[in-house]
Amino acid sequence: MTEGQGDSAATPVRLARIGGDGIGPEVVGAAVRVVDAVCGDRIEWVEAEMGWRTFERTGRALPEATVETLEGCAGALFGAVSSPSHAVDGYRSPIVELRRRLDLYANVRPLQSGARAASRRRGRSAGAASDDDGRVAIDAVVVRENTEGLYAGRERWEREGEVAIAERVISRRATERIVRFACELALSRAAQRGSPARLTVVHKANVLRLSDGLFRETALDVAAGFPEIEVEEQLVDSMVYRLILAPERYDGIVAPNLYGDILSDAGAALVGGLGVVGSANCGQCFCLAEPVHGSAPDIAGRGIANPIAAVSAAALLLERVGLGEEAGRIREVLAKHRTVGPRTPDRGGDATTEEAVADLLRRV
Ligand code: NAI
Ligand code: MG
Repeated sequence: MTEGQGDSAATPVRLARIGGDGIGPEVVGAAVRVVDAVCGDRIEWVEAEMGWRTFERTGRALPEATVETLEGCAGALFGAVSSPSHAVDGYRSPIVELRRRLDLYANVRPLQSGARAASRRRGRSAGAASDDDGRVAIDAVVVRENTEGLYAGRERWEREGEVAIAERVISRRATERIVRFACELALSRAAQRGSPARLTVVHKANVLRLSDGLFRETALDVAAGFPEIEVEEQLVDSMVYRLILAPERYDGIVAPNLYGDILSDAGAALVGGLGVVGSANCGQCFCLAEPVHGSAPDIAGRGIANPIAAVSAAALLLERVGLGEEAGRIREVLAKHRTVGPRTPDRGGDATTEEAVADLLRRV
């Protein structure tokens, strides 16, 4: 739908925006403004809904109409949903369901420091890369398998409720595709920054000999097909230790579902917190990007949510739908904003969401 543009105008990329609950609509609204400022009419947004408020109104947390809308889009920017901690009849987390239905098998979570996170780590490791202020910089990406592992949903009771069993599923097919994805991402990141790629394969094959053994063996096989990448392996427990001790030494990290979840949350704490980290759920031909944070009901409606995580997620989305230049532009703007722009309260400042967005727009 080119809305009367001239013949020379490219067909816009159609993306869905799903605010969800709590601060979701606030941060998605902010990110859409930044994207539009950078991309102009190259994006056509369509609105879709899911989450707790949708469930209360319609009885479905993920309406069929939303899935249909998404199927007609190249990708989506999603805020967050509020999921109650107690069981509610008929309610299931719509984001978990969407990852499954759209087969969004790769969860990508970049960990990039701003100056402030880096300053805490100053002097930790000689010879590490530096950010603009000459301080240690973190630039890693966790690629988490998003469809199986311990989150396969195979739990059951035994001995009349005295024992709970969870089955952990690792398949060669899912491991092959996640590791291939991680290798391709490592190469494109390396090409962008002009230095060699490294990939760390995370597992616990010394204990889980069959399941993590299969993950390890398959991962090393696939990675061997990418001779330009320096590949190493690391047991998950010491990986958490090393990531916290020397995060600047990591580049690509690939891990089964739960390990990747834990590593990326630990990593978020190293680079400025939940308010700044974006993520992308990627499938073969669809990408759903979202901030790592939830709906933050404690600050919803107060106009103080940090928009950085949602804007970072939007950059990941643009990259995946073929707007790499625009994504790069947003990253530059974000880097400057994080260094010298007004800070929202979660980053120790007193700026509002609106002031943060105004600063981002000014830098575009
Ligand atoms: P949360 O991430 O929503 O909030 C944790 C803390 O970080 C809160 O103090 C919050 O104010 C702060 N925070 C988060 N994002 C922020 C931002 N952009 N700017 C400033 N401060 C921010 O996690 P919580 O409290 O555990 O969960 C709240 C709700 O979110 C729950 O209903 C949970 O189910 C849901 N949730 C949804 C997710 C999703 O939709 N993908 C992911 C995680 C949680
Ligand atoms: Mg998590």
